[in-house]
Amino acid sequence: MNPQTLTRRGLLRHAVGGAALVSALNAQSPQTQPANPATRIRESFDFGWKFLKGDSPGAQQPEFSDSAWRAVDLPHDWSIEGPYSEQEKAQGSLPTGIAWYRKRFRLPESYKDRTVVVEFDGIYQNSEVWINGQYLGKRPYGYVAFSYDLTPHLVAGRDNVIAVKVDNSHQSNCRWYSGSGIYRHTWLLATGPLHVAYWGTFVTSPRVAKDAAIVQVKTRVKNERKTPATCVLTTALLDGDGKRVQIAEATQQIAPAGEYEFVQQVSVGKPHLWSVADPYLYKVHTTVSEQGRVVDEYITPTGIREALFDADKGFLLNGERVKLNGVCLHHEAGSVGAAVPERVWERRLEILREMGCNAIRTSHNPYAAEFMDLCDRMGFLVMNEAFDEWKVGKSQIGPYGYANYFDEWYQRDVKDFVHRDRNHPCVVLWSAGNEIVDQSYPDGTETLRKLLDVFHTEDPTRLVTAGCDQIASEPLSNRVRPEFLALLDVVGYNYVDRWRDRQEKYFSIDRAAFPQRRVVGTESGSMGGGPRGDYSGLFPGASSAGRRAGGGGRNLDVEQLWRFVSTYDYVAGDFMWTGIDYLGESRWPGKGAAGGVIDTCGFKKDGFYFYQSQWTNKPVLHLFPHWNWKGMEGQFIPVTCYTNCDTVELFLNGKSVGLKGYAFPRYGMEGRYGNYGARARVPRTTNDLHLEWDVPYEPGTLKAVGTKDGKVVATVEVSTTGEPSAIRLTVDRAEIAADRRDVAHITVEILDAQGRVVPTAGAEVAFVVEGEGRLIGLDNGDMQSHEDYKATRRKAFNGMCLAIVQSTGKSGRIRVTANSPGLQPGNLAVSART
Ligand code: GAL
Repeated sequence: MNPQTLTRRGLLRHAVGGAALVSALNAQSPQTQPANPATRIRESFDFGWKFLKGDSPGAQQPEFSDSAWRAVDLPHDWSIEGPYSEQEKAQGSLPTGIAWYRKRFRLPESYKDRTVVVEFDGIYQNSEVWINGQYLGKRPYGYVAFSYDLTPHLVAGRDNVIAVKVDNSHQSNCRWYSGSGIYRHTWLLATGPLHVAYWGTFVTSPRVAKDAAIVQVKTRVKNERKTPATCVLTTALLDGDGKRVQIAEATQQIAPAGEYEFVQQVSVGKPHLWSVADPYLYKVHTTVSEQGRVVDEYITPTGIREALFDADKGFLLNGERVKLNGVCLHHEAGSVGAAVPERVWERRLEILREMGCNAIRTSHNPYAAEFMDLCDRMGFLVMNEAFDEWKVGKSQIGPYGYANYFDEWYQRDVKDFVHRDRNHPCVVLWSAGNEIVDQSYPDGTETLRKLLDVFHTEDPTRLVTAGCDQIASEPLSNRVRPEFLALLDVVGYNYVDRWRDRQEKYFSIDRAAFPQRRVVGTESGSMGGGPRGDYSGLFPGASSAGRRAGGGGRNLDVEQLWRFVSTYDYVAGDFMWTGIDYLGESRWPGKGAAGGVIDTCGFKKDGFYFYQSQWTNKPVLHLFPHWNWKGMEGQFIPVTCYTNCDTVELFLNGKSVGLKGYAFPRYGMEGRYGNYGARARVPRTTNDLHLEWDVPYEPGTLKAVGTKDGKVVATVEVSTTGEPSAIRLTVDRAEIAADRRDVAHITVEILDAQGRVVPTAGAEVAFVVEGEGRLIGLDNGDMQSHEDYKATRRKAFNGMCLAIVQSTGKSGRIRVTANSPGLQPGNLAVSART
């Protein structure tokens, strides 16, 4: 890596990894220092905070003593620390309330004479912030990023104290688990008096073609001085290796305390386009100079791509039809709650990608900034959603939802949301809201019009949708008003799979009447099917006490809907509810919703393989349920197979149970399968997207053999296991960064004597973590478990659980041991490197 590249990395707008902070307690890391200290400095402000759960009037005063408060690092979510209680009104049955955070810090010399801004990526919710006793402001919405200018209140050479009060006491205010606290990153940003404004660049690609593209950069530059400034703005487009592609320069006088927006264009020959398969990123390097001296530098990662929604062709990326194989997610991540380390999201996205998912809906609120960076880098298409409530409250949210703040705050919140995210190539669609009650009210269309105005003004390049339910509901008074739908750029349909009582199916209801309408399935049922590995709902009389509706994920509505979506080009795609299980939306003793195809640990459920068989071209062959049905000998057990093989033959203990064929030509696969005549030779036994056999139970091994084009391409076995005998640990990465942020995911499996996972094992496992790591969360995916996420022991759930271990900031080894009485312990080591 040459020094120039290092320099540019140091300037990255979203530099997350560095352990730098400006604090009396900690030294700065060279990692986030800019090359040119005369320009901007943006450093993490996450470390060295004090925290008090409860109210503490007067805690905003600098002289207030917080010596008895707990030391915490941010991001921090106090709700996830528990304990659970049936009495809690908030989703997830976890505590909420009021709390305070304080941080004492001293500004280094390099911050002298600069404008200093504190940035909060998200505080849930109703935060109020003071600096040295001076009130800076309040922000009700817990999901937006915001900042305050600290400059006039800071003292040089002495300690400064920032105090934050968080009030999440009014419950309930959200339909899912929100978390509580400063649960996202914080930053300190210092600039000179002539600088790029906050969220001050807007990069677009007005022309995108294979041979040439034009990249346009609008840059707002601020002059904070009392005298005019002559500003030279240089905009360079750099390729992925940091090499300059093109440069534009302009000079402008900016009035005292004024601002000017530069508009520059650069052309790129044979652009390397951003796509799902190849998410290539360029960088816009902005340089502000005055009298020959560089006074500010700013980097905006960007991707050159054209994203279009078409009434007939669906979604087009760079001119090519791409079906949105989408999932809805929520913002939290199991045992870490709302304070999600970046690597936790990265791993989750890797697993979704393995499933063939290419699109995410950020239901139903703005996500963390680093989530959008990951989607840019990993090639996910994002439907970026703002709200779950506008002016009219939802009963399921409770009395304290966003409806209380909408009128006063929506303009500000949407503007900030769009400004933060509009440079991300991953964002292909905005969503103004989800199942908004106002959609059926006479004045709801006017509210939509106002929201659209803000979206379109702040980002004229993207279309806006909303996830609408009630499109076909009876009585008519409940329906979304036609003028509301007509106003949306893209109409988002929620749960067309549930319109089964109607003769017209799915989107075709409206297709005939509104042929010009662009449509997308914003939300629909998933193949989640309840808790991972739980088959108690599969047939009467199964074990597991029948306390859950587990069925391993079989849902004909979902199969039929996917067939419909994949067949008709005009449907841009569909986002199923949900990709991953989430906390909340459940009744005690439940604490979360298990409708995902991946559990909160990131472990795959059976439904995962349904999507993988439809959304990828790799051979998929998955059988369920497990084959441990002691006491049920001779009874018929429905065995299901998700596959994209042409034929599958199932064997029980070596004897064939039957050969079945896969009848429906999958989306995008028609060419490979040839014409229907050829397919007609495949024995058709089902027109659905799964295969199944009723198999009389006897212990042993079920084996499935799958063929494509007459050749065996996949074989899978499911065996009756023995008793639990040992613990196996595996880790997602053997080496992590020693930066107090990076994490290792340690999967725990309970094995029998032959090394097979015991699919019903529930042994309690005790963990010891030694060396340069600490345990930050234990989980097993069981939505009925009230075990403490922050404890050191956890029961396995259907054979598995997960430990998340975070680095300490020092290089070294992290040793993890897992013990359970009567089982051979598991252990492994991870190395942490600076
Ligand atoms: C939808 C809603 C989601 C979630 C889901 C549960 O109607 O948009 O937020 O509540 O139902 O099934």
